[in-house]
Amino acid sequence: MNTVTSIIDLQTTLNRWRAQGKSIGFVPTMGGLHKGHLSLIDIAKKNANKVVVSIFVNPTQFAAHEDFDTYPRTIDADLTTLSSSQTDLTFIPSASDIYPNDLAFNQDEFIHDKYLFEILCGKTRPHFFYGVLQVVRRLFDIVRPDIAVFGQKDYQQLHIIKRFTSGVKIIEAPIIRDSKGLAMSTRNQYLNENEHKIAPQLYKTLTKIAQEKLDKKSAIQQLQIHFKLDYLEILDANTLKQISNNTRKIAILCAVFLGSTRLIDNIIKG
Ligand code: PAJ
Repeated sequence: MNTVTSIIDLQTTLNRWRAQGKSIGFVPTMGGLHKGHLSLIDIAKKNANKVVVSIFVNPTQFAAHEDFDTYPRTIDADLTTLSSSQTDLTFIPSASDIYPNDLAFNQDEFIHDKYLFEILCGKTRPHFFYGVLQVVRRLFDIVRPDIAVFGQKDYQQLHIIKRFTSGVKIIEAPIIRDSKGLAMSTRNQYLNENEHKIAPQLYKTLTKIAQEKLDKKSAIQQLQIHFKLDYLEILDANTLKQISNNTRKIAILCAVFLGSTRLIDNIIKG
């Protein structure tokens, strides 16, 4: 596996592969890699000849009070992990390569779909999905992949990327969980021993809702025993709007705080 930091070096390799008729699969990450990320790489390899993984902690998706400075940066461990994965090329760009001019992102184009950016995680993180879309579009422009893989774990992110990017086939990857059911996340590293024991209650509660053993009100009460609730919503999975007669798939989506760590999880039921 090769590692490049400059766009020129990246594109030299990509151009060579394209000239050989190889298709390019892409997995964007912020590092702090775990089995969830590795599952995306496996899926990318099944759907493309060559797999590019990017590691970039994107400043525009963090608000000033959030954990940009302390977000786990574990490049050495990540490169070791990637070297025994299906990754062909790792791209670790600098912020000045990604954002050569400034950090501004014009939101006018989303004026009619603002709700998608403002509901669920967008309520407490109003900047977040604009920052994600900005960096994903920029990375797509640089890498120009045929396919890209994103996790269902970040369901609203996946929905927004599918809707507001073009020219790249977006493939959805199922949520990878630990043996207790906790969805793998880089931020799980923030949990202490006691919190690690409590965290799987989130998935347990979502499962009971999915099995129709618990209504929303009782689920909220149950979650509040263990967590500070951010949101619990049961929406149409295809539109992220309220459930209607046309709903074919539902999304049970939840975010909670456990101490100072924010956990998100969901179940899609169709
Ligand atoms: P990051 O949190 O590093 O996640 C990278 C990708 O891994 C995302 O598509 C995410 O949904 C997926 N992922 C994370 N945990 C997962 C799990 N337990 N099971 C399956 N997939 C999982 O998401 C981001 O980075 C950033 O917002 C990014 C898209 C890279 C833009 O900066």
